[in-house]
Amino acid sequence: MSLKAKIEVDGKVFEFPVLEGSEKEKAIDIGKLRAESGYITIDHGFMNTGSCASGITFLDGELGILRYRGYPIEQLAEKSSFIEVSYLLVYGELPTADQLKSFSQKIADNSKLPEGAGKIIDAFPKDAHPMAVASATSVALSAFHHKYTSANPSAAEKEEVIALMLGQFKSIAAHQYRRSQGLEPIASNPALSYCEDFMSMMFGGKVNAEVAKALDILLILHADHEQNCSTSTVRVVGSSNANVFASISAGIDALWGPLHGGANQEVLEMLAEIKKAGGDHKKALERAKDKNDDFKLMGFGHRVYKNFDPRAKIIKKACDSILTQLGVKDELLDIAKGLEQEALADDYFKSRNLYPNVDFYSGIIYRALGIPTNMFTVMFALGRMPGWLSQWKEMRETKETKISRPRQVYVGSPVREYTAINKR
Ligand code: SDX
Repeated sequence: MSLKAKIEVDGKVFEFPVLEGSEKEKAIDIGKLRAESGYITIDHGFMNTGSCASGITFLDGELGILRYRGYPIEQLAEKSSFIEVSYLLVYGELPTADQLKSFSQKIADNSKLPEGAGKIIDAFPKDAHPMAVASATSVALSAFHHKYTSANPSAAEKEEVIALMLGQFKSIAAHQYRRSQGLEPIASNPALSYCEDFMSMMFGGKVNAEVAKALDILLILHADHEQNCSTSTVRVVGSSNANVFASISAGIDALWGPLHGGANQEVLEMLAEIKKAGGDHKKALERAKDKNDDFKLMGFGHRVYKNFDPRAKIIKKACDSILTQLGVKDELLDIAKGLEQEALADDYFKSRNLYPNVDFYSGIIYRALGIPTNMFTVMFALGRMPGWLSQWKEMRETKETKISRPRQVYVGSPVREYTAINKR
């Protein structure tokens, strides 16, 4: 017998169906609420509101669970590769060896930027924030790949443009870095793996296998995270049948925010500040707890995880092994660990279930790989690209998808007459 929910208002009772997901999550389908009751709901920040049913990523914030298409993130980080995980997110199944080879080849074949796109990157000032360059160049790609800008792309076009975007964004990220350093861009080398190729396009020369592996793990951990702010933005923009380049560019802009993907850069700047002030992290904790101070402990807290972010656990463990392998000693890692230890023992953080999130330790590894701090959020976008693209594809292929157009409760002025300017 299917579950029902009842809402009683104004002495009337309204019944609504309950949807149950494959992990027993339940949702009240209020699709007919306004038509039947005249009421809407309001839910600031959509903390209790689902925007869609999705089969891509499952996370349980209470239990600290994260799975891509049913596979636990811990197993994927240990055994898979970023491109294999990208295939899994987009197609729903782990690829065979031939499928993986063909997918990797398509991405490699699409890694050369159109000359005009390179010129757009070159036109930016050297000190432009990499996220501005990434967002602008991503939407500019629509001018060079007309074939993929139709309001209703075919299945083949969706598959092709996903491989294209994975290849192109890797090159946008590396090209903008080279130009910011006053260097010539380095061409993609199709003989290299995705992460080796990226590092080679960034820094040139032979890429250390440990470095490529460390980056691969980081990108896997960032690859998707269900309906977060930037993914929801990709879906909202895509729901108007805007093309994928516009949707992705909007997602990049949402990710830039310091409350979202921009936090990984803020964490490193916060740790460097603490180091500069003598390494005493107690002051940072006091500021984070002070209601009159808008300082937040960056890299801590999460809308969904009210337990450890499983990705933060994996990254923290990887920090020690990667820095040892690379022979890198980073005082900021010790400060971060001290800060975490202190915060986890502090009632303010414990009572609000504030734990380290994916952004708390990731910057330590990016730094050890030689990635500049202002590029950390672009690295987040590089990892999240397959997630955004798979969510965009799922949204476009779901028959329930409608253009996103929320309602509101008006709290402004009642009706009034226009008055001539000399009468005001
Ligand atoms: C990402 O959604 C995703 O999945 C995102 C992400 C992904 O993979 O896509 O996981 C990536 O964005 C991770 C989050 C990165 N952001 C940061 O690290 C910035 C610091 N964190 C906070 O800004 C905050 O924790 C958020 C934005 C992450 C979550 O904010 P919420 O869910 O809106 O919670 P809230 O701001 O209402 O906080 C609840 C309470 C408040 O105190 P009270 O009003 O109850 O007294 O906790 C406090 C907040 O002031 N609080 C913090 C804090 N985070 C929350 N206090 C100090 N430092 C913090 N970091």
